[in-house]
Amino acid sequence: MSGHPAPTPTAPPPRLWPPQLWVGPVGLETNLLLAPIAGYCDLAFRMICREWGGLGLACTDLLSPQGLLRGTATSLDLAKTNSFDKPIGMQLYGADPEIMAQGARWAVEHGATVIDINMGCPVDKVTKKDGGSKLLTDLSRAVSVAKRVREELDRCPLSRDQWRERLGAAILKDGLPERVPVPLTCKIRLCWSTSDYESGQACSPHLARMLADVGVVAVTVHGRTTEDKFQGTVRHAGIARVVESVAGRIPIIGNGDVREPEDAVAMIAKTGCSGVMIGRGALSTPWIFRDAWSLQTRGTVDPAPTDSVKIEIVRRYFTLMLEQRDERYAMYQINRRISWFAKRLGFNPDGTRSGVKRLKEAIRNAKTPAEVHSILDGYLAGGYRCEMEPAELSEE
Ligand SMILES: Cc1cc2nc3c(=O)[nH]c(=O)nc-3n(C[C@H](O)[C@H](O)[C@H](O)COP(=O)(O)O)c2cc1C
Repeated sequence: MSGHPAPTPTAPPPRLWPPQLWVGPVGLETNLLLAPIAGYCDLAFRMICREWGGLGLACTDLLSPQGLLRGTATSLDLAKTNSFDKPIGMQLYGADPEIMAQGARWAVEHGATVIDINMGCPVDKVTKKDGGSKLLTDLSRAVSVAKRVREELDRCPLSRDQWRERLGAAILKDGLPERVPVPLTCKIRLCWSTSDYESGQACSPHLARMLADVGVVAVTVHGRTTEDKFQGTVRHAGIARVVESVAGRIPIIGNGDVREPEDAVAMIAKTGCSGVMIGRGALSTPWIFRDAWSLQTRGTVDPAPTDSVKIEIVRRYFTLMLEQRDERYAMYQINRRISWFAKRLGFNPDGTRSGVKRLKEAIRNAKTPAEVHSILDGYLAGGYRCEMEPAELSEE
């Protein structure tokens, strides 16, 4: 806790454009969300994105309710949050309504601003247990999970003092009772089977309406089918159909393939969605929320950070990881993430790139945190930029 007085949750005058995105009683500062990306959108990374601004809501990676309830170390690490990491969604996966409900209560008791149910994960480990996007093949089960979780959330409403601690820059709607339950959202895909989608049989428009009926206050739609996994390009028309089907009853958040601020604006224009969730684009560009917000509100984007600022982002991420976890885990993370960070590094004025391949190799071979820091220092001092690397030109 910072020790500073918490912000008052009273609403300022309504914003005209873009319209404020309300997740039930919670009004977000912007209409941009950080996606859950298992193994990547940890507390350290969420803090980096928040520091750059423009981020309305972030989410934990998918959490196992059983793991949370048993208190396993992995689940507790994944659910870590702090007072700066607000507002925060905690995402649960599973198909057992009762266990999901108890997991949701745990998340409320441990700082969640929003509870999200994962109905989109295509990974076997999750779908074989009927969770994630397997729920798209059994809508009555999907709805009963959401309904039971919603009931449980209604049984543990938060006081105004509790809300103050988990709003961050978000606000709470005026005129609500003294105690207000945490809102419930779901994240879905268009449907399981691509042939269903192509023949106009996607379940998502229908599912979104059914979820709204049981008190889900926003639905994020990743514009792919489960069979698509991550291939091809996002299907904006599929997201637009979900937007149309709910007819303004709840906001729909569009998700998929937003890599540049312009893609966020295009997502809204092509689908009519109320907000945009960004995943992989943020891994290389944690300042994308700042830029996408600025493009919507001012029509311009600030200059990209310089390479030395980008290197400081890498260093900050690594330092936070060392503080929040341990040396072994921080080394593991920097080793696998340097290629994401490096996607935006090393551009020469003529558009060619240099030094990035050597930087990545050096970081991957580093054995200690001191070595990581000295490699970053060396890159800044120009030590890795001695020659052009044609092989890298096609990387982006
Ligand atoms: C490695 C990886 C892990 C992911 N983990 C999750 C997850 O835990 N929960 C979830 O709802 N979606 C997860 N997703 C899906 C993303 O949230 C998002 O829907 C998808 O990547 C499309 O958005 P993007 O193009 O902005 O990345 C994951 C995606 C990837 C690539």
